Amino acid sequence: MADQFILTTLEGPVAILTLNRPDVLNALNIPLMDQLIETMERLDNDPAVRVMVLTGNDRAFAAGADIKEMAEASIVDMYERNNLARWERIKRVRKPIIAAVSGFCLGGGCELAMHCDMIVAAEGAQFGQPEINIGVIPGAGGTQRLGKAVGKYRAMELILTGRFFSAHEAYDAGLVTKVVPNELYRDEAINIAKQIGEKSPMAVRFAKEAVLKAFEMPLSEGLDFERKMFYMLFGTDDQKEGMAAFIEKRKAKYTGK
Ligand code: CAA
Repeated sequence: MADQFILTTLEGPVAILTLNRPDVLNALNIPLMDQLIETMERLDNDPAVRVMVLTGNDRAFAAGADIKEMAEASIVDMYERNNLARWERIKRVRKPIIAAVSGFCLGGGCELAMHCDMIVAAEGAQFGQPEINIGVIPGAGGTQRLGKAVGKYRAMELILTGRFFSAHEAYDAGLVTKVVPNELYRDEAINIAKQIGEKSPMAVRFAKEAVLKAFEMPLSEGLDFERKMFYMLFGTDDQKEGMAAFIEKRKAKYTGK
């Protein structure tokens, strides 16, 4: 049987995906990433799941792409494998994904966390884009997404020096949603996921899509997109239920229709 690099459990509407290569600090080799992407796509199409939490273990979320897997590769090998292009499929997952980060969150690990919609970090977590220290640069979105999260001047320093930075620095810079005591990172991510799981699934998907558009579109087009998504929700039962429940002073029961 193939190694199981992704462990999946369900807590109500929340699917918890755990990266499972602990001996190598969850280094992201190609089989792990293939399993992760396939699992996310399967869960994205599973109506029982409304939110995903992606986590590692206490010592490492992930210490980056697997250096040993690529150390001897030629440019032709890298170009033909083109495995980093497959990460784009994570971007197309429509349900929210929350990264629950403890320990090392480096290189491709930091980039994987940045593919998620929120990052909940243990206070002892260490972030970094240290690729420059091994003669390369971030290759899974770090040069683009880190700058969008923390601004050009901080991203430039972090990427050019490759230094590690703390969860608190990541939070202050805008990379992290929330910093919690070390023992709570998983619980807090699941707690946020459960809150989202109680909302209208269509509204949640549209909200995620609209927020992400802000990073891809000029403002006027993003505003136009948002307005159309808002109007479209008036075609759902959940909008009728949500507004009726407000008026009738009761809790809404959303069906996803
Ligand atoms: N790839 C492959 N193996 C890795 C790894 C990685 N990214 N990170 C850690 N490991 C392995 C180590 O080789 C070691 O394995 P062995 O026991 O077989 O020697 C094991 O995990 C434990 O690691 P250490 O002994 O190094 O643990 P440490 O506590 O002394 O140091 C660390 C921890 C500072 C995170 C250190 O492991 C480290 O610097 N790792 C590499 C970080 C890095 O450079 N990441 C970027 C990778 S390139 C990338 O991600 C490209 C991209 O953008 C897509």
